[in-house]
Parts: sequence; C-alpha cells; structure tokens
Amino acid sequence: MSNNKLLNVMFISMLTFFLLGVSVEPACAQNKLVIQADLGRETIDKNIYGHFSEHLGRCIYEGYWVGEDSPIPNTRGIRNDVVKALKKIKVPVLRWPGGCFADEYHWKDGIGPREERPSMINTHWGGVTENNHFGTHEFLDLCEQIGCEPFITGNVGSGTVQELSEWVEYVNFDGVSPMANLRRKNGREEPWRVKYWGVGNENWGCGGQMRPEYYADLYRRFQTYVRSYPGARPFKVACGPYGEDTEWMEELMKSAEAEGVQMDGIDLHYYSWSGKNSKSATRFEEIDWFHLLRDAARLNEILKKQSNIMDKYDPEKRVALIVGEWGAWHEVEQGTKPGFLYQQNSLRDALVASVSLNIMNQHCDRVRMGNIAQTVNVLQAMILTDGPKMILTPSYHVFDLFKVHQDATLLPITLECEDYRFDKEEMPGLNVSASRDKSGKIHISICNLNPNEEAELSCEIRGARTGKISAQILTAPEITSHNTFDDPEVVKPSNFSEYRKTENGFKTTLPAKSIVVLEIEGFDRIDVDDYEARVYTSSKGDTIPYRLFVPRSYDRDKKYPLVLFHHGAGGSGNDNKRQFEGPLPRKWAGPERQAKNPCFIILPQIPRNRSRDRENRFPQTEVMCKHIQTIHEILDNLEEEFSIDTNREYVTGFSMGGECTWMSINEQPERFAAAVPICAGDKFIGMEPSEMGQKFAHFPLWIFHGDADEVISVDVSRRLVKALRHAGGAPKYTEYPGVDHGSWELAYRERELIEWLFAQSREP
Ligand code: AHR
Repeated sequence: MSNNKLLNVMFISMLTFFLLGVSVEPACAQNKLVIQADLGRETIDKNIYGHFSEHLGRCIYEGYWVGEDSPIPNTRGIRNDVVKALKKIKVPVLRWPGGCFADEYHWKDGIGPREERPSMINTHWGGVTENNHFGTHEFLDLCEQIGCEPFITGNVGSGTVQELSEWVEYVNFDGVSPMANLRRKNGREEPWRVKYWGVGNENWGCGGQMRPEYYADLYRRFQTYVRSYPGARPFKVACGPYGEDTEWMEELMKSAEAEGVQMDGIDLHYYSWSGKNSKSATRFEEIDWFHLLRDAARLNEILKKQSNIMDKYDPEKRVALIVGEWGAWHEVEQGTKPGFLYQQNSLRDALVASVSLNIMNQHCDRVRMGNIAQTVNVLQAMILTDGPKMILTPSYHVFDLFKVHQDATLLPITLECEDYRFDKEEMPGLNVSASRDKSGKIHISICNLNPNEEAELSCEIRGARTGKISAQILTAPEITSHNTFDDPEVVKPSNFSEYRKTENGFKTTLPAKSIVVLEIEGFDRIDVDDYEARVYTSSKGDTIPYRLFVPRSYDRDKKYPLVLFHHGAGGSGNDNKRQFEGPLPRKWAGPERQAKNPCFIILPQIPRNRSRDRENRFPQTEVMCKHIQTIHEILDNLEEEFSIDTNREYVTGFSMGGECTWMSINEQPERFAAAVPICAGDKFIGMEPSEMGQKFAHFPLWIFHGDADEVISVDVSRRLVKALRHAGGAPKYTEYPGVDHGSWELAYRERELIEWLFAQSREP
C-alpha cells in the first residue's frame, strides 16, 4: 500500500468475520470491498428508517396540519402531499410529540372538540402559542394515513405517573374504563393499540435536568404504570444518553434487568454539528463539509461504546438501542425565527444521512430503531413546505434510495479504502453497508465522501453469483447544492451505469461527493454438485433418480431433520439434474441456512412418459402413486443409512410437486411432521376437497398460492383451505396478491416459513 493510503476496515464486519471464523486476506487494491453474500445473520430492522416530529416551529403546524378548512388539499386536516411523499419512502415509525416539548405536554389538552382545547405556551420552541389542535387523535390519524407505527413519548419532566398511565389507557384499552369511555366519547371506538411508548425525553437536560440515578428510579416508577392491555403489550423505551455519555447508560442498564422492570429500548440522541465555520446549511466550505461528515461518522464509535456497555448487562441483546434523534444541526436559515430550527438541506446533509444509515445498518444487532430529526421544516428535514408548496430535500432521496435495506439481512463486509484528507486530518473516504432482501437481491449503499476525487472500487461478492446489476446515484454539481421552491430538482437521484461486472463481483468508479446504491441479483452458489446423484430401483422395479444433500457438518451422533422436495412438471425426466432448476429449497443447503437449520434434503426426479403428446408427457394418478411409494422407500433406506430425526421429516413441492406433496401425506401421513404444498393442482390426487379436508384437518400444513395464477387456479387451494377449515382444521394459508404461477419463488424465501417448518415435530 502506498503511503497516502490507509487501511480502513469497518470494525463490525471484522467482528462478524471473526465470530464466523472467516478470514479475509489483506488486499492491496486501492479501494476494495468484500461482501459475504451467504453469511448474513442479523436483520436490519425497518424501524432504523424511522422519523421524529415535534411540536416545534413549522413541523406539525403547516408541515402536517393545515386544518380541515384549508385550501391546501388535506384529509381530516392533514396535508395530502406530505403524506404521499412519506408513504413513498416507507416511513416505518414516527416519534412524537417531542423532544423537549414532550416533557411539558399534557395530552388531555389535545383531545375533544378543537375549539374547546386550551392553548399553552411552547416555551422551548419560540414561546409561541400552541393551540393543541393537533393532538392524540390527529397524530394517530397521521400515522394511519402514512401507514407507520406511532411512537409516543410521555411526559416525565413535568407530568405525573397518573397522566402517562391514563394516556396509555386512553389509547390502548378496549374495555370499559374512564379513559376508554372518554376516547369513545371523542369519536374513536377501537383502541389504537400503540406499541412504542417513551418514558420521558432527554431527562438529563430539557426533560428535568436529572442525574442518572434519579432518572433510573423514576423510570422504574413510571414504567410500572405503562400498562399492558389485551392485544397491546407496550414496548417501553427509557430516555437514553446523549452521544458518548456512558455513565447514563451504565446506570440505566443496571435497572434494565431488575425485578418488575420492563425496559425494551433505550433512546440515545446524537446530532452532527454544522462544521467548523458554517454559516448555515447552505453557506459553507470544504472545511465544514469535512468536519460535519466526520462528526456524522463518529456515530460508529458511539454505538460501539454504548453497545459494549449494554452487552455487559444484556449479552442476549434483549434491550434495543434506539437512536431516537439524530441528524445534522445547522444555524437557522437567515430571516427565520431562531426557536423554529428551520434549515435548508444540501448534498452535504444527504451524505450525513447516508453515512448514519450505513452505520446503523452495521449495528443492527443492537440498534433496532432510528428517528431522524425532524421530518418536515425542522432540522434535517425530508420535506420543506411554503404555504401550498412542498419540496423534497436531498435527505429525502437518501431515505428513498436506502429503503431497500428495510428488514433485509445485513451482509458482512470488509472495506479497505483510501482516506479522504483535508488539511492535516483524514477519515475513510468511503462508507458502505450491504444487505440481502427477502427476494434474494443484494443492495449495496456506498458513499464517496471526498468532494474532489472520484474513487475506483473493486467489489468481490463471495457466496453468491453476481447476476444483473442496476444502480442509482445521488450527487450534484456543488457541495452546497440544494433544492429550492424555485428549483426543486437540483439534487435528485438518477440512474448510474459506471460499473462493470467481473468474474466474482463488479468494479465501479464512484464520482466525487456521491451516494450510489447498487442492486444485484445474486444467486446462491449452491449447484447440482453439492448434491450427491443417486438412483434407486424399488422392489417393484420402479426406478427413480434422486439428489441427496447431506448436512455439511454431519455428525452420526446427532439427529437431523429431512426435507423431501417434489419438483414441478418441468423438472420431470431422468437426467437427475432438471429437478434442480429454479430458486428452490435446494438453497436450503446453502451455508447460511445450514448454519441455522442443518438438514438432509432429497430431490427425487419423477420420470416422464415417452408420449409425444404434451398432455400425456406426465404420469397419471396410478403411475404417480407408484412413484410416490418408491420415493417413500428411498426415505426408508436413508433412515437406515443416516442419522435422521424421524420425527422431523417434511415434504414440500410446487405445482405438480405441490400435488405430490398432498399425495405424500395421503400415502404416509404418519411419516411427515409437516407439509408445504405450493400452487398445487388437483389432477392426480383423485380425492374431493371435502375428503381431503376431513383427512388433513389436523395435519400441520402451510399452503401457498398466487391469486393471479393462470396455470393452476388459486381456487384449487381456496377450496381445500375452506374444506380443511370446515373440518375443524386451521391450516396456514398465504395467498400472494397479483402473483402468477411463480409463487414458490416468494414462498421458499419466507423466513417465517422456514422457522415454522423446522419447528414442527411429530414428537408428542
Ligand atoms: O430536535 C430538537 C431537540 O433536540 C429536541 O426537542 C430535543 O430532544 C433535542 O435536544
């Protein structure tokens, strides 16, 4: 490595590699990224992409709330344009009503007829009059309109235990009680069943200037009365530290596991300050760019430190770390009220957002929520409004580009990159995270922090074959570029094509000061040769070729479950290969899945008839029954040969194989612990749905079908499910809207399915 290059390796990735025992050789390429596509373990909680909105400046009033009589198009007083924009970026959760405002907010002032609600002074934020027109009902309506979870922060600083307790009762209780009755009187019959409840905000500061011991005791007291009501178990969030304040964290964690205390999350706050000399969000120079981004990147160290403390008390990582307020904080825009914290938003802020999100992704084992401050018209906003006008900020576009990481599996990476140097200081020039979504696509978000130089990056993807690549970029001509009401599209994403596929990944050139998000169709590197080819001839002379996967870590002294997979009609033949096509559960032989659920997998191949006539190419009922019996004989033999857990044999298949799945459990219901028929037909089975309903009512089943299936109508599965239910069964049934005959692609990737399946056992 040359002198001006430094090895910048992302620590979490290294930790993951260490834990998983994977070593990565040092490389000498300039910027090198290695992604372990098959080793992801942690899920990036979609709530990391959450937001925070306070009664501050023009966030609530004007930003969301314009009132029912406003000429600005609204639904029950809430702006339609803002809701539409927030839906697009899939806001998962919204924190409210503060902030510092939370600890002087009395929720009962914000319910009932609006004209009767008392006004108050918003002392923290500009001393303006708060007329309480936007209260509990309006906030929860907003969340319903956006389609996100509400996160309500209660008043500990100047409120009472009773007040918070009654708020929870008002919002969450379904029965007859003073607060539930009051809610009904105010027009809401059903409780909202709000999950996330914060117990105070920044109680070390604006929320009461408390010492950690004092707050920890208050938390214990207040949380006791944040009651659980039927169907509404609260997720209780304690006020956390600011940044690196480890003393606060230590004290809180001592209480986290105490008898009778429920602490599900700790709300840490951290802001990145404007730079060195910044005059505003848009009037700054490179020195400010450098300092602000370095401040944002410090979040990594902070999360590392605080997670270490949490690990000491809670090694199981039960308590979530929530970054309940984060973002860039600049001087207010000239000519605006200082107490309103209104700031513009430039490309620099987009980099702050993307660096912070990448870092939170990397810490998703502990960080399970983040709430950027503050959605509309305040601090690092997604949206700015001016009367009826609305613009999207560069930060909004980052949330739009990064939404692909929501609920995806974080992939371990190692990154070696050049430094971005300014003056005599430096920081890593690139910042990255990668994930794999439920459909198997890999997303890589990369920031080039250097505002002057492009970066060549070579990326190796291990554990997956690189399929089709597409990418988007967010950049702009200047570091200060931003969107205005007159020119709203200066900074916006566009397609990016400066990459080329290599044998095991890709190479790209990242423009200076840019954010690039790549989407890669990855295929697991599991192929036919990972399965042993065998042929079985039955006592009756029926020959079936099959493939067998033996768990990689097979140990004769242990017992392993077995999955029998029946292919679709296209897999028929005798080449002992064709049954292997498509993204099937054969992938359950992949290292990632096998690490969690080691199992035998068997893929028999149903022979084809020799007929030239397409209709007759596939065997009919009688022949099919014979094949199924032969396949079951194969299982008998495997049970002799290997250490198989006979209480945990499962059968699944799609299309024709879905029907074979039914036939398997019809032939040998006592053998299988569960069955998963996917878009199954009803051609060979020779049974009426009612008969099947009676027979399988109490058999563990998960049935899948696409409702737009034109090959095998969804009605086949619907009829069966109806019959099963009629016979007293409760089969699991997933119907994918708008999905044609390929529903297995989605079904076999359902994490929940895999967990459910391997949990089934015939053991009493
Ligand atoms: O987001 C603005 C303020 O910053 C919040 O009200 C407070 O919690 C934090 O200090």
